[in-house]
Amino acid sequence: MKRLATLLLVTSMLVGVGTANAGENIDYLYRLHCSGCHGVDGAGSKVGRIPPFPGIVGHFAGSAEGRLYLVHVPGVAGAALPDAETAKLLNYVLQSWGRQELAGRARDFTAEEVRGLREMRMDDITALRQKLAVELAKRRISIAY
Ligand code: HEC
Repeated sequence: MKRLATLLLVTSMLVGVGTANAGENIDYLYRLHCSGCHGVDGAGSKVGRIPPFPGIVGHFAGSAEGRLYLVHVPGVAGAALPDAETAKLLNYVLQSWGRQELAGRARDFTAEEVRGLREMRMDDITALRQKLAVELAKRRISIAY
């Protein structure tokens, strides 16, 4: 029994350490899961129809539906990372390329927010981006690319 307890303790310590490292090294997670399509500079690709982050991504973070969109974009949903890492990755993207658009208005994503948004249904992500584009256009903001 004691041996089992020790084993469990050691295992949980190892898991804990692994998670902490992944959380701290968010730059590495971005390179691993996102940069293949979005580029290390977040510039995306015209040929691949991948939107550039600068000038655009920050605008999504200021509204509830925009935040729902960010959590459900295929690359984020498909990476199937834990809520905490997903929150950190989105914050990394927003802090790296959305600072100007955010202008301090949007709060950081938390693991709890990501979990809640993931539980919400997403039928048509493309339609949601179009709806957000229409709403932003009313404020003379373009997210076309
Ligand atoms: C296989 C390629 C691919 C990968 C990998 C990928 N993405 Fe994307 N991403 C796209 C495409 C394409 C779009 C455009 C939305 C669409 O057409 O569905 C997009 C859109 C986005 C958007 C919204 C930008 C906008 O202007 O609409 C965000 C934010 C985003 N991705 C973040 C990420 C993050 C974070 C990761 C890593 C966890 C990631 N993506 C991985 C291809 C990818």
